[in-house]
Amino acid sequence: MKVGYIQTSPIFGEKQQNFDNIDLIISKTKADILVLPELFATGYTFSSRKEVAALAESVEGKTAGFLKNLAKKTNALIIGGYIENYNGKIYNSAMIVSKEGVLGNYRKIHLYYKENLWFEHGDMPLKVFKFKEFTLGVMICFDWFFPETARSLALLGADIIAHPSNLVLPYCQDAMVTRCLENKVYAITSNRVGVERRGGDSFKFTGKSQITSYNGEILSSAPRSETFIDIVDIELGEVRDKSINAYNHIFKDRKVEFYKNK
Ligand code: ACM
Repeated sequence: MKVGYIQTSPIFGEKQQNFDNIDLIISKTKADILVLPELFATGYTFSSRKEVAALAESVEGKTAGFLKNLAKKTNALIIGGYIENYNGKIYNSAMIVSKEGVLGNYRKIHLYYKENLWFEHGDMPLKVFKFKEFTLGVMICFDWFFPETARSLALLGADIIAHPSNLVLPYCQDAMVTRCLENKVYAITSNRVGVERRGGDSFKFTGKSQITSYNGEILSSAPRSETFIDIVDIELGEVRDKSINAYNHIFKDRKVEFYKNK
């Protein structure tokens, strides 16, 4: 199957322009899965809750409409981040959209830095989404810092983790090698590029979107500061066999009785 990402450079607050720029990047791309960055339509560096609320939408809003059209044009299942308004509560979310419409929604659990001022923490348990022949998990950016996120998705049966991101720290791309190895899953980290200076903060987003294989191999790595699109071919056979050799199995060998939970 063909999976990929679009690395974008969003203009703060300019949803339509950001949609149009993605339409230019995709050209005649076809894929099974395409991942877009976290908050790809709005930008990331907010200065007030009011500003965040003004850019928020329901899961049936303008961004969902754009993603549905993108799914039609590319034939892909699209995963992209947006600001969700659900009954007046604002979340940093990602929706999963096919040409039929929205199939699922994930609300970021681990909020980074001032996201804690702007958003509610995700309030729903991690879950996976079955689509065609694959099972998909979704986590957003800083969720990678907590190994429990990818582990939970793998234990739930994820073959592939879609990982919309707005990375500002330099560690994630390397860390995803370990996340994928220890869970025997693929991951598609879609990052953004560019600089945002707003509300007293200045972020330089790190680009280098990455597709990481279950064996730690990096199948695609985007440039650090340019927009980019890439699609690679992957096979799902190996990710469904969680043994490492005849004696070791990444799930059955866990010694949960010795782990301190909570
Ligand atoms: C982040 O979670 N966007 C750093």
